[in-house]
Formats: sequence, structure tokens, C-alpha cells
Amino acid sequence: TERTLILVKPDGVARGLSGEVLARIERKGYVLEGVELVNATAEQLAAHYAEHEGKPFYQPLVDFMSSGPVLAVIASGDGVIAGFRSLAGTTDPTTAAPGTIRGDLGRDWGEKVQKNIVHGSDSVESAEREIAIWFPGR
Ligand code: GTP
Ligand code: MG
Repeated sequence: TERTLILVKPDGVARGLSGEVLARIERKGYVLEGVELVNATAEQLAAHYAEHEGKPFYQPLVDFMSSGPVLAVIASGDGVIAGFRSLAGTTDPTTAAPGTIRGDLGRDWGEKVQKNIVHGSDSVESAEREIAIWFPGR
């Protein structure tokens, strides 16, 4: 079965939404294979966000992701990569559909980086690459 790497970002952890996110993953029928609270290192964030290096939001994003702990999650199930992206909603929480994590729980806080509560891998290759960053050896 397929696996994905989910992060509850520092805004989600700080707002006490970790349980809500885990509950939505489980209610959808996916299985939690690993859950760990992590203070992300610079190395982990550079690897995780390598595709965004050089973009205007890159440094604010890395700074934000270093601002507090993140909850790293491996979830599994057929179609879990697309399924969790659907649960998460689109990137901008202002316009993410109601019913999604970002649509229900996120908003614009007037900051340089979009604080949108969760990350989810976008392909099988990304998922396996990202799992190795956050759960070495898994
Ligand atoms: P993730 O699941 O977190 O990877 O979100 P995504 O796949 O919907 O977005 P993407 O990978 O394109 O961008 C990663 C993160 O960078 C987003 O979740 C946002 O926090 C931030 N981001 C992306 N695009 C923008 C942008 O245009 N402006 C700002 N301020 N932040 C952005
Ligand atoms: Mg992405």
C-alpha cells in the first residue's frame, strides 16, 4: 500500500490542531504508521523544500518551519497521497474549500508566508524522499 509524509506545521501544532489533523486522517480510513514531534533542523528543511529554493517565499517558509515543533506523520492506504492532498485543500487557506483542513481551519494572517497548517507529499517519489528526511530508516 501507498505511503505519504504529512507534517502538521508549527502553526497547526501551536494552535492545538494536531489531534484534529490526526483525527481527519484516521476518519478517512488511513493508517498512522509513524507520528513524531520534531524540531526541524536546517538540514531537514533544506532537503524538504529543495524544489522551492530561490523563490521569494523560500526563506520566510524555512524560518516559519523553524519557529516551533512540527508533527511528522507517515500515513498509509491506497491512494493516500492524493487523498490527503484532497483532505488538506488548496495551498492558500483563504480560498481552500470548506470541508478541507486548510479551508476549515486556516486563514490569512497578513504574513509573508502562507501559514496553512499541513504539508502533504505530492507524488510517490516525493513521499519516499520526504519519509527518508523525517523518519530515517523507515
Ligand atoms: P505543501 O503540502 O506544504 O507542500 O503545500 P503545497 O504543495 O500546497 O504548496 P507548495 O509545495 O507549492 O509550497 C510549499 C509551501 O510554501 C506552501 O504550503 C506555502 O506554505 C508556501 N507557499 C507556496 N506558494 C506560496 C506563495 O505563492 N506565497 C507564499 N507566501 N507562500 C507560498
Ligand atoms: Mg508541496
